[in-house]
Amino acid sequence: MLCENCHPDKAYIEKTDHDLIITAPSSKNIIDQTPAESGTCGVCHLVHNGRNQIKLWAQSFGEGDSLMDTLCNACHSEKGSAKNKIPLISTHPVSKIVNLERIYKGRSSRIPLFHKTTGEPVRAGEISCPSCHNVHQWNPESKSKGEGVNREGNATTSFLRSRSSILKCKDCHGVDALFRFKFFHDPGKRKK
Ligand code: HEC
Ligand code: HEC
Ligand code: HEC
Ligand code: HEC
Ligand code: HEC
Repeated sequence: MLCENCHPDKAYIEKTDHDLIITAPSSKNIIDQTPAESGTCGVCHLVHNGRNQIKLWAQSFGEGDSLMDTLCNACHSEKGSAKNKIPLISTHPVSKIVNLERIYKGRSSRIPLFHKTTGEPVRAGEISCPSCHNVHQWNPESKSKGEGVNREGNATTSFLRSRSSILKCKDCHGVDALFRFKFFHDPGKRKK
């Protein structure tokens, strides 16, 4: 695959829930291609004929406080291809999180933060969907492609980034951090 040659770490998306050839075969991108026509990556990124500069985006933009949230919400919304998977809540109080990188057991505790309107990586900003999720890899502990079936995720899979990023939550939430992370989308449990 052409894209895989230069972006090998993104190709783990193949045959996961985010390979829409499997999970939403009749959905369309902004130039009216089905996943089979656009290819797995072409569902979300158009290298040619794209209208959007941002991430070569091949979908519309959904609702959300930050640009990154609007990328996910294009599909994770009532009219989107992931309408059965809309988080009940996914906001965090505005409180400029500063990313002072720490290394713990050989791993970085950085939570990626993205500029609210440009989507560029920033060192201080708010939490958005890709701060916790990496759409391209189902299981943070397993650098491999999917199994070609629609999976049900949990707090160790679900396209989440490395668990060590929870360390960053500890800076502010202490012993509550793991809990707040795990139940982030659960309005009843996210805060004791
Ligand atoms: C010959 C190598 C090469 C190939 C093949 C390639 N890319 Fe890239 N791509 C790059 C480089 C280099 C960048 C810039 C990386 C950076 O800015 O860090 C990039 C950037 C990107 C970006 C980020 C754009 C942004 O605005 O942040 C996306 C999305 C992307 N490529 C998707 C794809 C897709 C999809 C394919 C297959 C259709 C593909 N690429 C094929 C080399 C390649
Ligand atoms: C379901 C939608 C979706 C699909 C399918 C998808 N991506 Fe992405 N991609 C995103 C989103 C959202 C971002 C921005 C968030 C981020 O950087 O994690 C992104 C960011 C990127 C970037 C720039 C960020 C970086 O770390 O350099 C590259 C390169 C990229 N994707 C390549 C690919 C390639 C190659 C494929 C196919 C193998 C692919 N993507 C399939 C949604 C998707
Ligand atoms: C092009 C559409 C599209 C985009 C963009 C997209 N997704 Fe998805 N996503 C899907 C589809 C389709 C599924 C499978 C839904 C199902 O199982 O019913 C899915 C599944 C998931 C799942 C797994 C749900 C489960 O079954 O446990 C997570 C987590 C997820 N997406 C998060 C994200 C995040 C975070 C972003 C943005 C960074 C994003 N998605 C962007 C279409 C998309
Ligand atoms: C603070 C971290 C965090 C942020 C930010 C975050 N998520 Fe999640 N998300 C999680 C965790 C943890 C799970 C796994 C929950 C479980 O299944 O126990 C999850 C699960 C999901 C699922 C699967 C839910 C299901 O019913 O199976 C979807 C879809 C999803 N997230 C989408 C999003 C979208 C879209 C955004 C941004 C609007 C987002 N997430 C922001 C941590 C986060
Ligand atoms: C810079 C400090 C800071 C960091 C880092 C931080 N938070 Fe928070 N968070 C806050 C503040 C301030 C509040 C509001 C007061 C409170 O609820 O404790 C809050 C509230 C919350 C809430 C409750 C929201 C509600 O419903 O009222 C959750 C859930 C949460 N944070 C999750 C997380 C997760 C998960 C991480 C790591 C990815 C994280 N936070 C990182 C400062 C931070």
